[in-house]
Amino acid sequence: MWHIMGAFKLIIKVKIKKSTRKHKIIYNTPVNHDQMNVELGLDITDEQISELESAIHDIDFKSAAEHEKMVRHDVMAHVHTLAERCPKAAPIIHLGATSCYVGDNTDLIVLRHGLDLLLPRLAAIISQLSQFANEYKSLPMLGFTHLQPAQLTTVGKRASLWLSDLLMDERALSRAREDLRFRGVKGTTGTQASFLQLFKGDGEKVRALDKRVAELAGFDKRYIVTGQTYSRKVDLEVIAALSGLGATVHKMCSDIRLLASRKELEEPFEASQIGSSAMPYKRNPMRSERCCALARHLITLHANAANTHAVQWLERTLDDSANRRITLAEGFLTADATLLTLLNICQGLVVYPKVIARHIAQELPFMATENIIMAVVQAGGDRQVCHEKIRVLSHEAGAQVKQHGKDNDLIERVKNDSYFAPILSQLDKILDASTFIGRAPEQVTEFIEEEVNPVLNKYKQSLAEVLNLSH
Ligand SMILES: *[C@@H]1O[C@H](CO)[C@@H](O)[C@H](O)[C@H]1NC(C)=O
Repeated sequence: MWHIMGAFKLIIKVKIKKSTRKHKIIYNTPVNHDQMNVELGLDITDEQISELESAIHDIDFKSAAEHEKMVRHDVMAHVHTLAERCPKAAPIIHLGATSCYVGDNTDLIVLRHGLDLLLPRLAAIISQLSQFANEYKSLPMLGFTHLQPAQLTTVGKRASLWLSDLLMDERALSRAREDLRFRGVKGTTGTQASFLQLFKGDGEKVRALDKRVAELAGFDKRYIVTGQTYSRKVDLEVIAALSGLGATVHKMCSDIRLLASRKELEEPFEASQIGSSAMPYKRNPMRSERCCALARHLITLHANAANTHAVQWLERTLDDSANRRITLAEGFLTADATLLTLLNICQGLVVYPKVIARHIAQELPFMATENIIMAVVQAGGDRQVCHEKIRVLSHEAGAQVKQHGKDNDLIERVKNDSYFAPILSQLDKILDASTFIGRAPEQVTEFIEEEVNPVLNKYKQSLAEVLNLSH
């Protein structure tokens, strides 16, 4: 119901001729009542306006609920309730308007406000994660393709992949926010016929009213054409951005869960936290699991918004209403819960370099074979002969690992084979993990400077506030 209250304030404002009272308002544009008086010139008395103003924060919800039981219409229930509270203003309440004037315009205000709440939270995550990426940009770690160890990457480089997706979400959400316009005053099928009548055929006044209402609600753009509602494609755009964020969070938190399983990386774990009621030693990545659970819900909401738009026949059908009341509200609440949990994760990610190094040691000898061959050839050896030697030794070492459950002993086998004697002194250097990470550290630095920091600059003001919120 509160959104309806918000919209009533809107109606009152638009019909205001003159007022000296200060409002607690949800809009950004200051109201110049004298100017309004001249602009609109409807036959409304100061008395009616003061009466309406005095009712702004005095809403009899009980009475509205009783009305709603009878009329089965939420907006009209409030119109009746307000009319009882303001008998003098009763004849002009909701004049020319339709429910969507109240509901849709308010939804647009709420959507924008919701995005304004979510975006700084997303920025806070980006900020924390970029610090993490920077700190660990040079720490080598196994990279995986097909979920099989491939070449190396770094801890920070992998985090920068998550960051890159989050930046796309920031762009999509900002874009959806900037693209939001106001529905304004449009009437039952969107033609503004009732307002044209209200202004006795003066279309310019209708246009001015439409523009002014949008301005007062803090929107500099409005949808010039609408049906009864603003297009549900707008909801779809917003939900699509939230759903896209869900996909990002799910991927990122799945990665964290995989790494936690390898004991390479962990989400924060309080000293007194209990991982499992039955297995006291466990440290389950429950925050990441919760993020995935919520993110999956976000992803699926996309289908609701898309299908709701798809089934809007002609100027509108009412089968959008119940669905979007759930979808929009849940989309924002779910995104909010997801972001705050993810922020908490990003503020305390724990890295275990020794475990990471051990895992590298298990795989790196295989990855280093190409470099060993190069060194042998440089020392005067034959590439084909060397290749065959390495192939046989690798095969033996692989059997140690897979068939006997032992460590990879390829390097020991290389050391034991006199063929490799000429390059033994170079082996440590060849096996230095930091020579396997390509430009990963430089990429992270470049990425943070060129792409992350400019985005964070937009949120300088709000970041500190949000970071406190998550503790
Ligand atoms: C390498 O040589 C040492 C000394 O001869 C021997 O103990 C060890 O088992 C050899 N390692 C492998 C993997 O063959």
